[in-house]
Amino acid sequence: MYSLTAILHATDRSADSLRLEEREIPTPGPDEVLVRLGYSPVNPADLNVLSGTYGERLELPGVPGNEGAGVVRALGSAVTSCEEGDVVIAPRCAGFWQQYRCFPAAELVVVPPGISERDAAILSVNPATAWLMLREFVPLKAGDWIVQNAANSAVGQWVAQFAKARGLHTANVVRSQAAVDLLLELGADCCVLDVTNFANQLRQAITGPCPLALNGVGGENARQLTRALQTRGTLVTYGAMSRENLSVGGGQLIFKDLRFVGFWVSAWLRQASAVALQSLFAEIAHTILAENLRFPQSKLFPLTALADAISASEAGGTKVLLEL
Ligand SMILES: NC(=O)c1ccc[n+]([C@@H]2O[C@H](COP(=O)([O-])OP(=O)(O)OC[C@H]3O[C@@H](n4cnc5c(N)ncnc54)[C@H](OP(=O)(O)O)[C@@H]3O)[C@@H](O)[C@H]2O)c1
Repeated sequence: MYSLTAILHATDRSADSLRLEEREIPTPGPDEVLVRLGYSPVNPADLNVLSGTYGERLELPGVPGNEGAGVVRALGSAVTSCEEGDVVIAPRCAGFWQQYRCFPAAELVVVPPGISERDAAILSVNPATAWLMLREFVPLKAGDWIVQNAANSAVGQWVAQFAKARGLHTANVVRSQAAVDLLLELGADCCVLDVTNFANQLRQAITGPCPLALNGVGGENARQLTRALQTRGTLVTYGAMSRENLSVGGGQLIFKDLRFVGFWVSAWLRQASAVALQSLFAEIAHTILAENLRFPQSKLFPLTALADAISASEAGGTKVLLEL
């Protein structure tokens, strides 16, 4: 039996660098699980993998796709942690742009029935990033404020929703009125447009302590975020959508004694114990279901329209999901 697999041969963006090829469906080893992958997004990180500019290189030829979800189809003889028919994710694995794949059973997280396979495909990266950035850097208490840019990104939408679920307030920077409307629907407390000196508006809107800023953009935009932070506040940088270097105001740094740190969810997940991994996704899934949180909207493309899916992701405006 054969199935389709996307294989990256080079990062030169030539027409031939990413090809769909037929491969034999693998048989799981004793500790492995065969999964029929159903959906996988084209995230900004995938675009960087394709162009060879991500934090780690894909060994070529290799299968791209940093996250996804599928249904268990066959179990190795020693596997007891999941069953045929379970929807699963594999948050520490890559290579999701293919129809069938064997995973080590220990790497799989079973997704609870309330979350669809399609939504599960975008559970590993962005919700975990938002959740961990709210947990790992600053002790936050109900009533605290968080300020973030790219707030309508998938990460930003999760930040706004998880924060609200914890009784935290968010001040959000976006680039369009449609994004303002979306964030307010998701429970954001305040939204400002990315205009010159937008920090002035943020400072007026923020009415309590603001110890944490989340930066997915960089450049001057990040400097404006720091102007809204309290003394000894922390700016966590997790993305650089503007592709501009972080701008740091010397006065802010010195007189407010700010902290600047980076966060990469892949590194966090890799160092996590099996227990920490399972409990992270159990907590995230529980919160999503208990609080009835909304997954970002996505547009579906069949795997056979991979080139169109990549162009749509590059154009932005919506999360792009491959139907595998
Ligand atoms: N460090 C980590 O562990 C980690 C994990 C997940 C994601 N990320 C990073 O987080 C960022 C967002 O990822 P995502 O999947 O949530 O993205 P997404 O849903 O595709 O959203 C992209 C966001 O970037 C904004 N944007 C695009 N170009 C911009 C520019 N030149 N200046 C300002 N904003 C710009 C978009 O705003 P408009 O809608 O206005 O265009 C949108 O809010 C990416 O950089 C991604 O690589 C990092």
